[in-house]
Amino acid sequence: VTGDIAGFAAATFMRGIPFVQIPTTILAMADASVGAKTGVDLPQGKNLVGVFKQPELVLMDPTVLATLPLEEIRSGMAEVIKHGVIDAPDLFADLESGAGTVSSWWGGAGVIWLARTLRVKIDVVELDPFERGRRTVLNLGHTVGHGLERVSGFALRHGEAVGIGMVAAARIAAQLGRADPSLAGRISAALASWDLPVQCPPFDVERIWEAMTHDKKKQGGELRWVLPRDIGEIEIATTVPPKIVKAVLRDLGARRSQ
Ligand code: GLY
Repeated sequence: VTGDIAGFAAATFMRGIPFVQIPTTILAMADASVGAKTGVDLPQGKNLVGVFKQPELVLMDPTVLATLPLEEIRSGMAEVIKHGVIDAPDLFADLESGAGTVSSWWGGAGVIWLARTLRVKIDVVELDPFERGRRTVLNLGHTVGHGLERVSGFALRHGEAVGIGMVAAARIAAQLGRADPSLAGRISAALASWDLPVQCPPFDVERIWEAMTHDKKKQGGELRWVLPRDIGEIEIATTVPPKIVKAVLRDLGARRSQ
């Protein structure tokens, strides 16, 4: 949030001044500080105002993470796992092998995972800086994730919601015959090893659907689904039948509408 607000202010103050990102959470190091997206929320939705603005420098000092609450470490790790699913089978294999403990972070593994994560992000952003195509893959887990964040009144942390969203995306891909059903189980296991939630809270399924589709309806656009076909293989789809999405959400714990 701090990096996005500062970046947006720097992009618009006097038509733009240089700025430096100094992220101090795993979430910001693994994702938000890299790639030039800046955005601020409006009451109507997340990141509705923003611009692309590259910082002059992104400075990461992992020693600052020592004071991070455990929940924030876990939430950030969901984004690390996400980058493993998108394009780093080696990173994902490390994280699903049970190596995922907080003490392994401080044993030196965390910095290696972070570097691997950033390689994935940088490669995608260099190829498609303005999200005309490939960059959409970075939104894996975010379609359902943003909906859950909103319905929770933002009580769910971003990484927690994205984790559940990734499990939902893998299950949807399996329902469509685009992924092996075991994929969702692998992603769940990697998340669970960081004590991240893998079930949907018991929110009303129609409220989640409404929260997911709200912004798109206003913009006259359609939902773009980022579906994992395998670890390291992602597909973008726009034609996912709502009844499949809602059935997957119910299977994951969402409440049937009264
Ligand atoms: N956080 C997704 C992106 O940078 O595109």
